[in-house]
Amino acid sequence: MLIVLSIGGSILAKDLDPERFREYADVLKKLAQDHKILIVTGGGVAARHYINTARQLGANESVCDFIGIDVTRLNAQLLIAALGNAAYPEPPCTYREAEFALVSGKIVVMGGVIPGQTTDAVSAILAEYLNANLLVIATSVDGVYSEDPNENPDAIKFHTMTPEELINVVMRTEMKAGSKSPVDLLAAKIIQRSGMKTIILDGSKSENIANVILQENVKSEPVDGVSIGTRIIC
Ligand code: UTP
Repeated sequence: MLIVLSIGGSILAKDLDPERFREYADVLKKLAQDHKILIVTGGGVAARHYINTARQLGANESVCDFIGIDVTRLNAQLLIAALGNAAYPEPPCTYREAEFALVSGKIVVMGGVIPGQTTDAVSAILAEYLNANLLVIATSVDGVYSEDPNENPDAIKFHTMTPEELINVVMRTEMKAGSKSPVDLLAAKIIQRSGMKTIILDGSKSENIANVILQENVKSEPVDGVSIGTRIIC
């Protein structure tokens, strides 16, 4: 399978612990024995800190976005370092560059590309552009909920949902200042228009990523004790 995997900076680069990068690299190298893999890394807390400081210094939102993109690319470079020879050596700057990089047969790791979006959207566009078989969005929550579960403990988790339901949830969550939706609206729209098979899961444990791809591959029942997140059924 050709798999695009988005790994949020908040899980991969939480505290810039080299062990964490190594752990994800080991899982990705195993997956790459059977699949073609492209990774999109997020910026996490470092991106937020840089953006806050830039904002306080008077930078406009596009400038802040470019700073955020640079941080996502730094995280991509750390993952490339952890992957060593298994990775394409540079994070591509565009979707076309990513396509060419894939020809190398190596794992391709990239960050953000243009202002006005997040790496969720990058991964969705990349998956659409390359006709990927599967898009996996690894975040710090274990799937998509009817409401923000931090605000409403009665929020219900979707095990499956349509892209239209995803768009509705994202729009409701994004309307509330400070709340964070599991994916951004542009990503949800791209998933809808492409009909991309998508799984949104808790990626804070690297083995969740491996297990969900294994399940997808062999079409088996969920592995005991592993939350498989939310499946978007198009
Ligand atoms: P992230 O994708 O990491 O944002 O991009 P996020 O969803 O807030 O963070 P995590 O990692 O899931 O916790 C960081 C910032 O980089 C800019 C945006 O400002 C974004 O908030 N960015 C990223 C872009 O402008 N364009 C891109 O293509 C990617």
